[in-house]
Amino acid sequence: MQIGPLTLSSNLFLSPLAGYTNLPFRLVVREVGGVGLCTTDLVNARSLLEKREKAFKLIETRPADSPLAVQLFGSVAEEMRDAALVVEAHGAVAVDINMGCPVKKVVKIGGGSAMMTELDKTAALVRGMVKAVKIPVTAKMRLGWDDDNLTAPDLARALEDAGVAAIFVHGRTREQGFGGTVNLAGIRKVVQAVKNIPVIGNGDVVTPQAAKMMLAETGCAGVSVGRGAFYDPWIFKRTLHLLQTGELSPEPIFSERVRVMCRHLDLMVEVFGEELGCRMFRKIAPWYAKRFGPCHEFNKQVVQVHSHAQFHEILENYIRWRQQFLDDHGELLPRFQQAPLVASFMREPDSIQRTHIPVPKGPVEVW
Ligand SMILES: Cc1cc2nc3c(=O)[nH]c(=O)nc-3n(C[C@H](O)[C@H](O)[C@H](O)COP(=O)(O)O)c2cc1C
Repeated sequence: MQIGPLTLSSNLFLSPLAGYTNLPFRLVVREVGGVGLCTTDLVNARSLLEKREKAFKLIETRPADSPLAVQLFGSVAEEMRDAALVVEAHGAVAVDINMGCPVKKVVKIGGGSAMMTELDKTAALVRGMVKAVKIPVTAKMRLGWDDDNLTAPDLARALEDAGVAAIFVHGRTREQGFGGTVNLAGIRKVVQAVKNIPVIGNGDVVTPQAAKMMLAETGCAGVSVGRGAFYDPWIFKRTLHLLQTGELSPEPIFSERVRVMCRHLDLMVEVFGEELGCRMFRKIAPWYAKRFGPCHEFNKQVVQVHSHAQFHEILENYIRWRQQFLDDHGELLPRFQQAPLVASFMREPDSIQRTHIPVPKGPVEVW
């Protein structure tokens, strides 16, 4: 997989999830394997230029956290350009621009020539960044404002002309939020709109099969996974295996999930300190637990965790409590096994498959 001059080991990407895709999580995903490029949470360009500690914490990295893209947001061309230079100097191999749905204003007042003005303004901002840095500049967007205003193909084409090296597109409109179905045909239109640059599809990929289907149905060059990676950090490794061999590898067993969860906590403590790291882990551990089978006992306790030692005590108690749901081989009894999640675009009509992938809290408006 190539993004401008950058060669990646796979066409699978970790999508930015503000509040979640921090250094510890990226390291976890990389250690599990299969991911080609990780992106940071979105970072305010101005905050970087003002050298705010919070912004620098968001781009904190280390050699094992490579290759890394930093996602910037901002609308002042000079600030975005200067922030891109900071990001480049910091060691990022790419800089991504958060476009959310950049044509909001335009669509609201009816498009037409105003839309071209807005596109021109966006293209000028991008050109300034592309000219300033040597690393590739990429952009992430939604399909458009609503189903009547699917502006992503036009925007993608304009951005390619301005020098963007790849486009990430979440196959939903802004109006959809995180509801409804990811529109694969909409992603395909973006793929068809650009001339040479890769388009990376995104949205609701929760299984290796869903990633494969998105690639096949849209012609996109790669797939970016957000919530699905939080739900299952093994998704990249298993997807890569499926794409390379055609075979679906088994799901990780419980002890492996626990091992990785503990590693994640260790890294949180290393990067954020014990108190904050544990506090932040209160919202992370329940994501691992979604795959443990019955887990309310664990979740009830872990949302109060305040120390590393206490976490391990909670975990040991839970492992003992969980034994009542196991058979003689230590496997979850069938009636306690959960049906796997199914991506919205793979859902059978009228099926009762589990399709809901949780949306963690945050300012959905800007994504
Ligand atoms: C909690 C949360 C935080 C997000 N933060 C960002 C962000 O910082 N930048 C961005 O471009 N998209 C952000 N997104 C959107 C995701 O990158 C992704 O496009 C979206 O979740 C769909 O992909 P998924 O179904 O694989 O999660 C966020 C989504 C969620 C749920």
